[in-house]
Amino acid sequence: MAESTDPAPYRFTYQDIHRTVRSIAERIEASLWSPDLIVAIGSGGFIPARMLRTFLDRPILAVGVSYYDDEDRPTDNPRTVQWIEEAERKLGGKRILLVDEVDDSRSTLAYCVRELLRHAPAEVAVAVLHDKRKPKREELPPEVTRYWKGLEVEDRWIKYPWDAPDIDEHDALARGGDRP
Ligand code: G4P
Ligand code: MG
Repeated sequence: MAESTDPAPYRFTYQDIHRTVRSIAERIEASLWSPDLIVAIGSGGFIPARMLRTFLDRPILAVGVSYYDDEDRPTDNPRTVQWIEEAERKLGGKRILLVDEVDDSRSTLAYCVRELLRHAPAEVAVAVLHDKRKPKREELPPEVTRYWKGLEVEDRWIKYPWDAPDIDEHDALARGGDRP
């Protein structure tokens, strides 16, 4: 049987993610900056954003981004499918912390930052659990001056606990697997 040359995926448990979120929160607090609002990019950013709220205690707004068009065909660029209602009123003049699970190509993050900037926030900062070390398709707009990452990881596929149909199996594999 031919051996796969793909590197093994990373697997993180909920405990791992919680600790990573706490380390981000500690660094945000140490910076003396604090957000008025957390904006979670769905769906991967939802659970990390909720965990972050345990430490930062700010309201969470959710946005959704899709890579599929109306006929369910994949597209190269993200487009919004769900955006914050009354965005102008809620985002204007506010310090926003945009949260997602992974910074992969950076396209979704860049797109969401641009969308948020249209609503004249005071500041947009970004926090991600995992930043993949790789050439990015896009850069973040220069308005983003604060960027917190939980861990920098190699460019491998990451398996998150919320995607696992069998969490016990996932955790067992995570314990025996590679750590970044
Ligand atoms: P980026 O701007 O944050 O770098 O994201 P990018 O557009 O490159 O990512 C496209 C989709 O691929 C995103 O999901 C992202 O979460 C997902 N993705 C990228 N790398 C990994 C990985 O290693 N593991 C997993 N599990 N997902 C990855 P999405 O379309 O927003 O869907 P959702 O899963 O967040 O709902
Ligand atoms: Mg995502």
